[in-house]
Amino acid sequence: MSLRTTDVTRESIASRAADFFERRYGHQPRTVVTCPGRINIIGEHVDYAGGMCLPAAVDRYLAVAAAPAGEIRASSELFPGQDARSSTTDIRPGGGWSDNCLGVLAQLTLEAVPVGMELAVVSDIPPGSGLSSSAAIAVATALVALELAGREMAPYDVARLCRRSENEFLGVPSGLMDQVACVMGREDTALLFHADNEIVETVPLPSEASWLVCESGIVRSLRGGDYADRPAEASRALELARARYRGLRFLTDLDPAEVEDLRLPAPLDRRARHIVGETLRVRLAVACLEAGNLDALGQLIITSHRSLARDCEVSLPELDRLVDIMMEAGCSGARVMGAGFGGSVLGLVAADMAEEAAAVIAERFRPADGPSRRGGGEIHRVRAVRGALD
Ligand code: GLA
Repeated sequence: MSLRTTDVTRESIASRAADFFERRYGHQPRTVVTCPGRINIIGEHVDYAGGMCLPAAVDRYLAVAAAPAGEIRASSELFPGQDARSSTTDIRPGGGWSDNCLGVLAQLTLEAVPVGMELAVVSDIPPGSGLSSSAAIAVATALVALELAGREMAPYDVARLCRRSENEFLGVPSGLMDQVACVMGREDTALLFHADNEIVETVPLPSEASWLVCESGIVRSLRGGDYADRPAEASRALELARARYRGLRFLTDLDPAEVEDLRLPAPLDRRARHIVGETLRVRLAVACLEAGNLDALGQLIITSHRSLARDCEVSLPELDRLVDIMMEAGCSGARVMGAGFGGSVLGLVAADMAEEAAAVIAERFRPADGPSRRGGGEIHRVRAVRGALD
């Protein structure tokens, strides 16, 4: 494991995408769009249940270059030999990386946006690492298509369209957090996303805080994995809660005592406990950020990890071990980030201790080898940046 310093900027990745496009298709692209990945400070596994979360777009980018064509062709620098080709009228999932592009284009045909185009994708967001490379590719694809068509779409509608692609085309019942962060992120700022009424507020991030994203080296996919069980369990828990509280809109409208009092069957009791507790932690985290109290924020982050491990059950022994190592290395909080079951651990550390902490983590954490392992993960020190459309 090593600290990965990056000099990849929006501009450099955009020109890499243009070069890759030209090599791939033999002529220049008409447009290039870049999109950042995201972290989520706190509020995990709650967006599909109407909870609150606190994501931020970060300085790891993906770029899509495009030009109009009679059919759809898509090529990714990360997946050589896995190019996609589709007609514009019968777009179907093929099971590969390009479904993230195809699904968005299928959604855009419903809005009468022309989708015949050649696409070339380059990325500095490690896939399967929990930094939302799939939302970034969807958002960038939507924006190139809109640009080629000379059409505008409100930021929220772009995010919603990309989520529909993920839900309907890829069959992943995810929430809207990733797309909102990738589209609407702001420099040095987190977004407080209320999934119940879809309101987004901004929360400035103190410069004394540094964010480390440590890849566990265990790659996970939301498709066909355990992720889908969690939204299903959340809706089942809500259904049962409604037997007691008629007209209840979201589990997060209950307080922790009311959740316990429901006596839901296992594991729904634990899932509901996580959703309600995590949403309360998000509220407290915002107060900690506003007060600049990073120690208290760290406590909330580590409590979030325990809840994700014990009640939401999306952690793994390697992720728990990485969390422990990060805490020993001086992080004030660390937790599994994103969907879980692999991916990355997010750590909060004082800015002047970040390099030292990263060195200790790099020294102590050895990702295990195995079929779903990618070998040595990397440590990214990330910063909040503007989203694709801010
Ligand atoms: C994935 C999904 C999000 C969210 C997180 C867990 O990133 O795409 O909608 O549910 O997992 O918080």
